[in-house]
Amino acid sequence: MSQNQTKPYDPNYQYQHIQVKPITGCIGAEIEGVKLSSTLDQDTVHEINHALIKYKAIFFKNQQHLTDDEQEGFAALLGKPLNHPTVPVKSGTAHVLELDSRGGRADTWHTDISFIEDYPKASILRSIVAPAAGGDTVWANTTAAYNDLPEELKALADRLRAVHSNDYDYASKVTTSPRIDAEKYRALFNSTEYETEHPLVRVHPESGEKTLLLGHFFKRFVGYNSQDSRRLFDLFQDYAVNLENIVRWRWSVGDVAIWDNRATQHRAINDYGDELRVVRRVTIEGDIPVGVDGRPSVNLKKVVKQDISNFTFENGQILEKAS
Ligand SMILES: [Fe+2]
Repeated sequence: MSQNQTKPYDPNYQYQHIQVKPITGCIGAEIEGVKLSSTLDQDTVHEINHALIKYKAIFFKNQQHLTDDEQEGFAALLGKPLNHPTVPVKSGTAHVLELDSRGGRADTWHTDISFIEDYPKASILRSIVAPAAGGDTVWANTTAAYNDLPEELKALADRLRAVHSNDYDYASKVTTSPRIDAEKYRALFNSTEYETEHPLVRVHPESGEKTLLLGHFFKRFVGYNSQDSRRLFDLFQDYAVNLENIVRWRWSVGDVAIWDNRATQHRAINDYGDELRVVRRVTIEGDIPVGVDGRPSVNLKKVVKQDISNFTFENGQILEKAS
């Protein structure tokens, strides 16, 4: 193991193996001098992981050489790949989730898979087909959001617990094309129903920073009715998606984005009409969040309603394997 990997996170660490170009003053950096692969050396991987924690969303251009296999292999250097619990992987792959604009469009702010306890540490997204214009993705720094809160709101946030669920108002939050059966997709997405109670403020396991955990899987605050929950959600969520806390990426084919899913929210911009947009994602296993008071997240509900092992995804369509 590299010497570096045993050291605690140091925000002032000087990179020696990668070039890091910050994109905004708050979030996002382009990384140069790296060809991503399953055989990257440990020191470079350590520096990529460091830049991921520091800049929250990092971008690599011109990675067209990556195959699905190599994307999975590179992901495994950052941690253990984690499959989406209810959406099947791309056929022929072990861990690749294909997001095809002919299927659904995740065009509202969210943190990936935040309805499970140990939701992903990071997601690695690779552009396969990019629209001629539009289809950008935006990421928000949720640590900056917490830091922006007035002291009185920080004190409230530190105490709040929030329930996240995949049984949310699907129709209002994911745009589907006529090609896909929205009801079928919803049934698949909710094939296992999850509810998890998280602290609103998560202490980041690597940096120790405090970060707001919200996004579209939020359902309610513990101890508040739905109306007050929604008001409080809007209050805190507005800090998260403040323009000063955001980076926006214009995709070209072969670009790779990696984000720290523990300190960000993201959404795609649905402004490219009928053009095709395809990205492939591998997520990395996370650990169970801990709040400011040391209380961990707890699973409240996991109800399997349908076995999805026979389904696969291809070109934005849900397919049932021949048995
Ligand atoms: Fe996402």
